[in-house]
Amino acid sequence: MILCANFKANKTRQETRAYMAVVESFVAVNEIEDTVIVFPPFTALEHTPRNVLIGVQNAYPVSNGAFTGEIALEQLEEFDIKTILIGHSERRHVLGETQEQIAEKFRFFSEQGFAIVYCVGEPLTIREQGNEALMCYIDDQFVGIDLSYPDLIVAYEPVWAIGTGLTPSNKEIEAVHTALRLKTTAPLLYGGSVKVDNAGEIMALSNVDGVLVGSASLSANDFCEMIAQAAELKQ
Ligand code: 13P
Repeated sequence: MILCANFKANKTRQETRAYMAVVESFVAVNEIEDTVIVFPPFTALEHTPRNVLIGVQNAYPVSNGAFTGEIALEQLEEFDIKTILIGHSERRHVLGETQEQIAEKFRFFSEQGFAIVYCVGEPLTIREQGNEALMCYIDDQFVGIDLSYPDLIVAYEPVWAIGTGLTPSNKEIEAVHTALRLKTTAPLLYGGSVKVDNAGEIMALSNVDGVLVGSASLSANDFCEMIAQAAELKQ
């Protein structure tokens, strides 16, 4: 399983340090073999070898240059960051990233050998139109994306499930993941209102290879509990 914590614009550097100490020790003590990735804000990046991978939530697809307010490859290299989240719904819908810009990011960071957690997901109006419309919408989010990239992880995050406490039914999650499995052999994560109460059952679904957790990952103890649930699934 792959378990990702996306902090978004939450937690200070000090809070992230304290959080990482808890999660890293949990992973070490329990000899966790699943992949655990934390995406903190840029200000909390540290240059420390870790048993938990650190990724960035975004970056600009250049080595360096005149791009006010952005962070580029050179700054990530300083922290040995080789993992990035691309295509997250908040970047698409709140920050206005276009598919073209997203595909350019994907191209640049795949050429740099980054592990890419690539997010797709439909708004509620599309889901209400049925499965065909839903998969069509997701297909558009794959335009310009190399689905055979070896370090690709795909995260299915329905927009209407993010931060709302709503989730698709297990059957609905399975249906989308089964359709995604026909498109790529990449691991498939589910994201959107994952919490301690539903993480175990979601990870047990077929073609679900892990979870991408927002709000509920902000508690180190809750995130560790989800990591424990993943470990239990193997037994
Ligand atoms: P929530 O877990 O808060 O719904 O957020 C999901 C998400 O966007 C993770 O990237």
